[in-house]
Amino acid sequence: SNKSTSNLRSPVICVMGHVDTGKTKILDKIRHTNVQDGEAGGITQQIGATNIPVNAILDQTKMVKDRKNIQIPGLLVIDTPGHESFSNLRSRGSSNCDMAILVVDIMHGLEPQTIESINMLKKRKTPFIVALNKVDRLYEWKSQPKMDITNCIALQKKNVINELTEKVNGIIVQFAEQGLNVKLYYENEDTKHWISMVPTSAISGDGMGNLMALVVQFCQTVLLKRLMYSEQLQCNVLEVKAIQGLGTTIDVILTNGRLKYGDTIIVPGVEGPIVTHVKGLLMPEPMKELRVKNPYTKFNEVRAAQGIKIIAKDLDKAMAGASLLVANQEDEINICKAEIQAEINEALKAIKLQDRGVFVQASTLGSLEALLEFLKQSKIPYAGIGIGPVHKKDIMKASVMLEHDDQWAVILAFDVKVEREAQEIAENLGVRIFTADIIYHLFDAFMQHREDLKK
Ligand code: GTP
Ligand code: NA
Ligand code: MG
Repeated sequence: SNKSTSNLRSPVICVMGHVDTGKTKILDKIRHTNVQDGEAGGITQQIGATNIPVNAILDQTKMVKDRKNIQIPGLLVIDTPGHESFSNLRSRGSSNCDMAILVVDIMHGLEPQTIESINMLKKRKTPFIVALNKVDRLYEWKSQPKMDITNCIALQKKNVINELTEKVNGIIVQFAEQGLNVKLYYENEDTKHWISMVPTSAISGDGMGNLMALVVQFCQTVLLKRLMYSEQLQCNVLEVKAIQGLGTTIDVILTNGRLKYGDTIIVPGVEGPIVTHVKGLLMPEPMKELRVKNPYTKFNEVRAAQGIKIIAKDLDKAMAGASLLVANQEDEINICKAEIQAEINEALKAIKLQDRGVFVQASTLGSLEALLEFLKQSKIPYAGIGIGPVHKKDIMKASVMLEHDDQWAVILAFDVKVEREAQEIAENLGVRIFTADIIYHLFDAFMQHREDLKK
């Protein structure tokens, strides 16, 4: 690469859309992974990131007509959940990105969370392109994944082309109702003002190369200035997660600047800014998802843009959705703390605890927040929260509610282990524990319990 572009960072791309439109499958196709098959109920309930290096892009865009040179060092892609309860994670993903891929099921058109995603993107003025996914569902569609999608379409029977045109025109009208002008990318000559759409199939692979090429091209034209690497740290906490053997860790998106082993970092926390030191910077291999259990590699230094798991002490009370700062000198610590406190105050509004209420324990902060949102909507107060396994101390806290009102002596445990000792104490004291690995099942079990109590 030449001098003017050698200092580009990877763009951060967020994949958004309604539930089951194929967001995770699209990434699986690109990564040659099976993350979606491993998800409980086929539902994405966490947020993570994947690095797609240039060689993978080159390899997978071979069939694309008029393919441009690649100047960016790769793509950093964030997958988000499409289920209604996870608007927190859609918001977090989209607020951390340079552009988005909005995935629409070509057979269904725009759906409620498509529109919610559009509104989030509009609010932050985040540009996006549209993947019209599941094109293989068109009746009598013939897959040609090794071809440019325009050639593939040209080879389809007339009835297939008619159905495609009809679906596309319907979707154009639906976008117009949202105040957006969209066009198929190969009819779009003004990518600054018109949003491009590309038909794809995450199953057969049709259009996948075109999708990647479109993202790269958009980044290298419209977003080029924004992608100049800067040493000015820009780092945001994406997720807080308990990992066996590592304790509570944070997953961050490092958009600009660098992080080093031993750095003094100021991390947002529910009880105020946390000052700690980087004890480990972990990243999965390229093409592997940060949120999935993979062998991680340890680095002494990481330069943006990357998704990184940080190991450090005192992260139990860490929170997501706010910045992480590095203090290079002792006297910077207080300045950093003040800066982060302002962000914390904003983000904390979502978590506020009550004196009386149920206890919630989850594997990640993102899913915990989704549970809290559900409780809020159902007018159920919550008095305690935690990330990671349910221990004896959690039962003891919940048991205090027995003195007030039995119905609150409840622990909702999502995707976490309940320690044997904790289970026994809960049974002895009369604290109810509900467990599930799909948040909707947890909602249902708890709602049923409340119904039973009323009888
Ligand atoms: P959430 O994360 O739960 O919102 O879903 P998602 O958007 O990530 O969708 P996911 O990847 O879980 O796919 C949902 C279902 O659609 C799965 O059964 C996939 O196999 C299927 N699917 C995804 N993409 C395609 C496609 O291009 N064609 C067809 N026929 N099926 C697809
Ligand atoms: Na799904
Ligand atoms: Mg998914």
